[in-house]
Amino acid sequence: MNILITGGAGFIGSQVVRLFLEIFPKSHIYNLDALTYAGNLENLSDVETSSNYTFIKGDINDAPFLMNLFSKYQFDKVIHLAAESHVDRSIKDPIAFVQTNVIGTLNLLNAAKSIWKDDYSSKLFYHISTDEVYGTLGETGLFTENTSYDPNSPYAASKASSDHFVRAYGETYGLPYIISNCSNNYGPNQFPEKLIPLFINNIIEHKPLPVYGDGNYTRDWLFVKDHAFAIALIFEKGKLKETYNIGGFNEWKNIDLVKLLCDIMDEKLSRKRDSSKSLITYVKDRPGHDKRYAIDATKIEKELGWKPSVTFEEGLSLTVDWYLANDQWLKNVTSGSYQEYYKKMYS
Ligand code: NAD
Ligand code: TYD
Repeated sequence: MNILITGGAGFIGSQVVRLFLEIFPKSHIYNLDALTYAGNLENLSDVETSSNYTFIKGDINDAPFLMNLFSKYQFDKVIHLAAESHVDRSIKDPIAFVQTNVIGTLNLLNAAKSIWKDDYSSKLFYHISTDEVYGTLGETGLFTENTSYDPNSPYAASKASSDHFVRAYGETYGLPYIISNCSNNYGPNQFPEKLIPLFINNIIEHKPLPVYGDGNYTRDWLFVKDHAFAIALIFEKGKLKETYNIGGFNEWKNIDLVKLLCDIMDEKLSRKRDSSKSLITYVKDRPGHDKRYAIDATKIEKELGWKPSVTFEEGLSLTVDWYLANDQWLKNVTSGSYQEYYKKMYS
């Protein structure tokens, strides 16, 4: 099989590339990535010389390039992760999200359709999406695969739109597709703009921890490797035209999570108890901030036998260990334009 993974140099994509190289040694894995600020080939330095791996630097916004690429490599399956992925950036610059997440996805769908149209058998367009398309929950309830789409941020709206286009290409042109919608991921190699790596970096640097609003917003956290395992399982055993929700039944209020992270880091850094908690600073809320996300992962558990492999405490501890052991990675990604980003968002 020739498998195209888009966004493979990013946080989740790099875990998926690594896992697929391991479990599909007879397949060739092509990683297409534009290497935006979030893409980093260091994330894959341990596997870059694998004989069944090819990295292709390229932009999914470039339609003619994608047509040539699909024609040249005759991909059998596509796993599409490339995206603009950060809500706060989508609030500042929504158009970039429409461009990459909507138009970029359409470009990929068109390339797949035009190359596969005479024979869809054994082909797959697997689109990786988010639970944020479902909008926000109140105090109770869970997002199921049948929850209506109700996106609130420009990021969520762009992902919802791309999900709709994937489904529409399935209905209209018969393109074989699967979509999965996952909850918040955490783990190694996550760019320090998202809550957990940003706060790990700030704790290391004794900088304030900017908690939005009252901190009582809830997210459902999943270790990134467990997301990659779920993707592999769906890729192999998922039913075409289906959606799978992925989540760890692991809800945390932001403020409770931040306090746990502070405790873990104080211990690992041999700092005085509660010293990291003193960095917690409540700041202006994010506009349109979704109150609560929580995934009902019953379908993937029952139908495909998937379960998360680590508890949150284990996963968070592994994550902190990774950032402490990879301070050069952190320094590299937080130099230069990151400083401007940080000033724009937080000063
Ligand atoms: P990320 O921002 O870490 O990585 C995105 C990758 O896509 C980067 O390597 C970047 O260089 C690449 N990319 C961006 N624009 C591109 C373009 N125009 N052409 C080619 N490559 C481009 O994102 P992530 O957190 O790894 O998320 C991956 C996917 O999973 C996204 O589709 C996201 O919506 C989805 N998702 C993320 C989470 C999460 O918690 N991070 C949860 C559920 C779903
Ligand atoms: P984030 O990691 O950006 O993921 P998402 O918005 O996709 O869920 O944010 C997770 C939660 O943490 C969300 O409720 C917003 C909050 N948050 C802060 O309180 N401070 C921050 O600096 C960031 C980045 C996020």
